[in-house]
Amino acid sequence: MDLLEAMRQRHSVRSYTDRSFEGAVREKLQQFVDQCNADSGLHMQLVPEEPKAFDGFMAHYGKFSGVKNYIAMVGPKGADLEERCGYYGEKIVLYAQQLGLNTCWVGLTYSKIKGAFQVGAAEKLCCVIAIGYGSTQGSSHKSKAIEAVSKTDGAMPEWFRNGVEAALLAPTAMNQQKFDFALTGDQVSAKAGMGFYSKVDLGIVKYHFEAGAGKTGLFGI
Ligand SMILES: Cc1cc2nc3c(=O)[nH]c(=O)nc-3n(C[C@H](O)[C@H](O)[C@H](O)COP(=O)(O)O)c2cc1C
Repeated sequence: MDLLEAMRQRHSVRSYTDRSFEGAVREKLQQFVDQCNADSGLHMQLVPEEPKAFDGFMAHYGKFSGVKNYIAMVGPKGADLEERCGYYGEKIVLYAQQLGLNTCWVGLTYSKIKGAFQVGAAEKLCCVIAIGYGSTQGSSHKSKAIEAVSKTDGAMPEWFRNGVEAALLAPTAMNQQKFDFALTGDQVSAKAGMGFYSKVDLGIVKYHFEAGAGKTGLFGI
């Protein structure tokens, strides 16, 4: 499964089976997380077999069940933490999809469990990503039109359209899709609208855009 296929097949999954992911799959995921930490300076941590974070009122209210594993999105405090978490977290989400796993970004509906992961004095927990083998594969979200989230100063090139299409497949908090891509000359820019977790969303959609457009490093993250 290539990245584009992973983006098409990925949907948020909130209900998980008992099947644990051990052995080769877990090792590959751990190695990928380690590599992303090395590339980004983040301190993302895979927290396996820890059911308490999704066992409280908030998680049930959020319709989560069977979540035993998650990724704690931790990194150095700073203005770019949320966007960086979005970009690298989504890179991990799509890799997990390629490994046959399911995921859901979670900003609110979980409990912070002391000792389950580390947050250094100069670090902050941004959010978590539930991960495991889903009871379902989820379903497609409603999406804004390409024109509603992008503009170009001339005809829209194919690669830019592909990038925006990929961004519209991305998860965003409450499916808000509050982002804008612009093409001025050959310069692509992207900005977040006002909204809950919209900076995390921006990092997520930037990763999707680069993958869809087939151009890496566009945003220098
Ligand atoms: C930053 C972020 C935070 C999110 N927080 C929650 C959450 O607290 N609870 C929840 O059930 N879903 C949460 N979601 C999942 C979104 O609701 C979901 O991505 C969106 O509805 C689009 O659906 P899809 O992921 O299936 O494409 C979050 C997603 C993102 C990107």
